[in-house]
Amino acid sequence: MANEPKWIDLGAEADLSTKSMQKVTAGGVQIALSFKDGVFGAIHNACNHVGGPLGEGKLDGDYAVCPWHYWKFHRISGTGEPGFEADCVPSFPLQAAAGRVLIDIGNPTRRRKAPHEHHPLERDVTRAPGPLRVAGISTTAMDGAHPRFSGSDYLLGKALESATEDGAETKLLRLDDLNFRQCEGFYSKGARACTWPCSITLMDKQDEMERIYEAMVHWADVILIATPIRWGAASALWFKMAERLNCVQNAITTHNKILIRNKVAGLIIVGGQDNIQGVAGQMLGFLAELGFVFPQFPYIAHSRGWSREDMERNMEVIRNSRELTEGARALARRCLGLSQRLIQTDPPPEKINRGGRKAHDLGLS
Ligand code: FES
Repeated sequence: MANEPKWIDLGAEADLSTKSMQKVTAGGVQIALSFKDGVFGAIHNACNHVGGPLGEGKLDGDYAVCPWHYWKFHRISGTGEPGFEADCVPSFPLQAAAGRVLIDIGNPTRRRKAPHEHHPLERDVTRAPGPLRVAGISTTAMDGAHPRFSGSDYLLGKALESATEDGAETKLLRLDDLNFRQCEGFYSKGARACTWPCSITLMDKQDEMERIYEAMVHWADVILIATPIRWGAASALWFKMAERLNCVQNAITTHNKILIRNKVAGLIIVGGQDNIQGVAGQMLGFLAELGFVFPQFPYIAHSRGWSREDMERNMEVIRNSRELTEGARALARRCLGLSQRLIQTDPPPEKINRGGRKAHDLGLS
């Protein structure tokens, strides 16, 4: 049975018909108002997915396309695009009278949310029993068909060997072997547009960043990340991965959901030139924001200094340095030792709302 109508004047037809899609507010309700082929349509502004603003999207034929992750809803009926008709956003009756557009906000159709398959990464994060697990992540770039010696890779191999000898399970992930897209800044569209799992992971089945998420969030107790120094900074692949890990941090901001807990990180930093402490500081700061903890002396590093331009000599130095090999092995032992203690005691999460950040300006507190 229809409710009592609540007609509200949205404005002049001549003004409202200048845009194909726009967000308007009527009686406190946000509406995605469309105009096409002489006909207005009004559906609720909030997308069924995670609430994206449909009125800020665009039209694809008669479908409003959500600007966050591109779900589509019929601009007049609110029904999902073909194949997703079970999803529906509320639509509202409209009337044009004396050059004005009126909306009845008292009689929306019902919102229906169809069940959508959950991505495996969405499962609860609980440590599976078994030996300690160490994921080595190499961030160096090279031509796989013509591999060269990499000092950071070499030392990462030594650290993983040591971890294996100490009874840990290990796996090595080379970012260079993975086909993964750059972060596209979903966060900049809206805090909730950056989802866990990553919006790109959910939409692009070919994207292989999933393997890093699986290792970091679900599998590993310890991650060891190796990077070369490039122009005084970590490698470009490190930054590409770090940007895609924004969703792990954002889960804390938007949902107070801490995905990384009681996990340990260590770093191996190798460069022909200097700025080791700058590189370490940036990487440690970022990993701390995700929730990783660090052993005492959380990185090892090597560089021959700014004035040394003899990289072939640098490779020889690394290969022949017992000190660096022992340093890499000792780093693995420190990380495993801390991890062991964390797992045994399983300290409960600190009660720090949203990792110490304020979120009230997002309307999320
Ligand atoms: S598609 Fe609309 S919020 Fe994700």
